[in-house]
Amino acid sequence: MASPPPDVGADDCLPEYRHLFCPDLLQDKVAFITGGGSGIGFRIAEIFMRHGCHTVIASRSLPRVSMAAEKLAAVTGQQCLPLSMDVRSPPAVMAAVNQALKKFGKIDILINCAAGNFLCSAGALSFNAFKTVVDIDTIGTFNVSRVLYEKFFRDHGGVIVNITATLCLRGQMLQVHAGTAKAAVDAMTRHLAVEWGPKNIRVNSLAPGPISGTEGLRRLGGSQGWESTNGLMSPLQRLGNKTEIAHSVLYLASPLASYVTGTVLVVDGGSWLTFPNDIKRLVEFESYSAKL
Ligand code: HXC
Ligand code: NAP
Repeated sequence: MASPPPDVGADDCLPEYRHLFCPDLLQDKVAFITGGGSGIGFRIAEIFMRHGCHTVIASRSLPRVSMAAEKLAAVTGQQCLPLSMDVRSPPAVMAAVNQALKKFGKIDILINCAAGNFLCSAGALSFNAFKTVVDIDTIGTFNVSRVLYEKFFRDHGGVIVNITATLCLRGQMLQVHAGTAKAAVDAMTRHLAVEWGPKNIRVNSLAPGPISGTEGLRRLGGSQGWESTNGLMSPLQRLGNKTEIAHSVLYLASPLASYVTGTVLVVDGGSWLTFPNDIKRLVEFESYSAKL
């Protein structure tokens, strides 16, 4: 069995990298990556740039994306444009896409990776908490896709990869907000693949499992020591890493996947099949109930 590629926990570039795909797989392409300043999005940006791509990384925090862009450009020699943008704000998305097009003259690939999440039981979740996650994950994904379509993809084609999750497949507890939001994105993937296929736009989802060295895992791991419990219960008996996710996104975004559209690629070591739903943990959250 193949061993996983090495990774580092922090939002830093890999100290060394061995190409598995052709190094010029994305030569001279431009990718717009929301949430590209941290975690999985940062590693996607790095791996794309190591394959010849220029990137735009966009999220709310300008210091975060600016620092990330410096690291990425220094290590890969490719260009990385950091932009501040809240995916919930269509005017901000339009301004960011305009800036990206002004700099690079084109955008070939969109990766919708921005998301928000926390553990909370349905019975303790406020209306606004549920709405906030749907606004970022689902509506944010639509906003950025719609603007990219309008401003470039409709006339030139393109590739969209939406980063989702497996939470909805079995109904993960404490995750009704994120599971619902990501399930809607998977539905959006199929709708957009159907409508935009004739414009030479491929749209796919990639659903990661629990991934080490990420904010997502820190938030979902709680105080339970995820590594030593849930990670080991999955068929591959380990967590995934960010490079493994980035490699799968690279495949979907590249010409290797030229006939792939409207799919959800699950990259989780089989963990959704065996992932535990420890109902006892609900007690930790039931004591708190949000003001509606
Ligand atoms: C219950 C919470 C909460 C919590 C916030 N809220 N945190 N409710 N438990 N832990 C409620 C607030 O009380 C408020 O509702 C509403 O949510 C909005 O909160 P704000 O702080 O005003 O929102 P905002 O500033 O927009 O921040 C969004 C956020 C935040 C999602 C709440 O955590 C964030 O910015 N996250 C980005 C980073 C992130 O989450 N990364 C992990 C992605 S991983 P009220 O009613 O009080 O107004 C991921 C993994 C998926 O998605 C699957 C993994 C297997
Ligand atoms: P992360 O580092 O927190 O990434 C989320 C990114 O989204 C951050 O860079 C954040 O930057 C940005 N963001 C959040 N709200 C935004 C908004 N309103 N507008 C623009 N950008 C926003 O977490 P991660 O764990 O790497 O997660 C990355 C993706 O993988 C997410 O889509 C997540 O759902 C998915 N995923 C992760 C796991 C996992 O195990 N980690 C598992 C399944 C799926 P700012 O704060 O600067 O805005």
